[in-house]
Amino acid sequence: MSPKKSGPVSVVTGAAGFLGSHLTDRLLAAGHRVIAIDNLITGKTANIEHLAGNENFRFIQHNVSNFIFVPEEKIDYVFHFASPASPIDYLELPIPTLKVGALGTHNTLSIRRRKTTGATLTRSDRVVYMMRRNVSPRQ
Ligand SMILES: NC(=O)c1ccc[n+]([C@@H]2O[C@H](COP(=O)([O-])OP(=O)(O)OC[C@H]3O[C@@H](n4cnc5c(N)ncnc54)[C@H](O)[C@@H]3O)[C@@H](O)[C@H]2O)c1
Repeated sequence: MSPKKSGPVSVVTGAAGFLGSHLTDRLLAAGHRVIAIDNLITGKTANIEHLAGNENFRFIQHNVSNFIFVPEEKIDYVFHFASPASPIDYLELPIPTLKVGALGTHNTLSIRRRKTTGATLTRSDRVVYMMRRNVSPRQ
C-alpha cells in the first residue's frame, strides 16, 4: 500500500529513543506520516519495531551530525530529539554529544529552511523552544 498523502509529514530525530519513540506513536495516531531518523547510538530498535509495516512510518538510520537528506518535497514539522540524554552517556560519549547538540541541531534546522512550511521543535535539558518562522524563541 502507498503511504497516506493527506496527513502532515513530520521528521522526528532521535525516534528510537524514549521521547522520540513516544512522540512518533502519538504523531502516527494523529494521522501524520513520520520520517524517523536515529543512529541508534543510545536508542533501541525495540522502541519502534512495532511500527514495522506501518505505511505512514519510515525509519532512516543516520547520524544527524552529518548532512540530512530527506527526499520528500514538503515537510510540515521537524522534531529534534536526537542526543545522548543521561549523565552516563554524556561521560561515555562527550564528542558525539557535543556534535549532535551543535551540528545535529544545525542540520536539523536546515531541513526546515529547505523544505518546511510549519514549525521546528527542539529540546534542551531544561526548556523546549518552539521556533516558528519570523518568531524569536524568546517571544
Ligand atoms: N527523557 C527526559 O525526561 C528528558 C527531559 C528533558 C530533556 N530531554 C532531552 O530530550 C532528548 C531526548 O531524550 P530521551 O530521553 O528520549 O533520550 P534517548 O537516549 O532515549 O533518545 C535519544 C535518541 O537520539 C539518538 N541519537 C543520539 N545522537 C544521535 C545522532 N547524532 N544522530 C541520530 N540519532 C541520535 C539515540 O540513538 C536515541 O535513540 C535529549 O536531548 C534529552 O536531554 C529528555
